[in-house]
Amino acid sequence: MSLSETLPVIDLDVFLSQPENSEAAQQECTKAANALVTYGALLVHDSRVSEDDNNTFLDLLEDYFNQPIDALKQDERPELGYQVGVTLEHTEKPKCAVDEPCLDIIANLDPAERPLDITGHQPDPKCRFFWKMGIPPPYDTKYPSLNAPNIVPQDADINARWEPVMETWGKSMKAAVENVAEMTAIGLGLPRSSLKDAGKYGPHLLAPTASDLVKFGQKDTILAGFHTDLNFLTIHGRSRFPGLHIWARNTGKRIPVKFPATGRYLLVQAGKQIEHLTGGLIKAGFHEVVVNEKTVETIEKRKISHPDRPLIRISSTFFWHLSSDYDLLPIPELASRASQLETGSQAMYEPMKVGQQVQNELKHIALMT
Ligand SMILES: [Fe+2]
Repeated sequence: MSLSETLPVIDLDVFLSQPENSEAAQQECTKAANALVTYGALLVHDSRVSEDDNNTFLDLLEDYFNQPIDALKQDERPELGYQVGVTLEHTEKPKCAVDEPCLDIIANLDPAERPLDITGHQPDPKCRFFWKMGIPPPYDTKYPSLNAPNIVPQDADINARWEPVMETWGKSMKAAVENVAEMTAIGLGLPRSSLKDAGKYGPHLLAPTASDLVKFGQKDTILAGFHTDLNFLTIHGRSRFPGLHIWARNTGKRIPVKFPATGRYLLVQAGKQIEHLTGGLIKAGFHEVVVNEKTVETIEKRKISHPDRPLIRISSTFFWHLSSDYDLLPIPELASRASQLETGSQAMYEPMKVGQQVQNELKHIALMT
């Protein structure tokens, strides 16, 4: 099953070129909201996106993560919960491995549709870089450690390329995900800018991950164990290596993510903040990154087509957050729709600041103590 056959494709071009109240635009918005309710994910077509920008970005990150470990270590900031700079391999734990409700979700899946076993709960063998893309809030924030300045790598060649490449690709993904937030708001019956404005000063992150496929390229290696994202919406560009699996809320099926072969597409996934704000009407989407058969095939092909390039799987990922000081509590109309959807026991969504929710989640995945 390919993702393009199963996940709805939302056309941002239609939304941006037609009047907001036109039937065509309204239809796309309804489709976006319904896709997030049903699947926790959607594909978005955005003709403003440049594949060249994504490729330039992937090249830069391959070069960065191909540096000696001592160079990478200079960019680590454990005292800031790794929320800027680099996180090296075997630091981040998949929360699910130690979280009972999450293990129940796995147990309830058909054995053939389960993620790779994470119960040994080794931290993930993936590295990550966090590049902040937020606008600093113009007010005193209660959560300053999440609003610390960016780190630029020191290597002369990488340093010179870094900022323009990160900013160009990051801005493309940020623009697309903010438009998806607007479409989702309209599709849920909320004012267009309500969700986008709630994240106006969010600590958004361009957050590529890197997996060394020389060390971790054997089939069935877990690169990132089964989990959901803690932010509001996550958007991904194309990766050079397949391996991302997602689970749609209502089907219980593992879906290998496959972008359409050509064209300007991005993948959007729901995170914990949108689940909280909608009272569970939209659920954060579970996913994993593993070495599957297609990953292995792609590794073999890439060794031949690009013998001089580092064999590193970069994910082109952007985490869009709500503002840290925003009050996170379910919107009553959406929560009541959610209660009609649920059959079993319902999750509780206690009111709290977004910054508190983020800190709670980081403790679970061992990035903050
Ligand atoms: Fe994730």
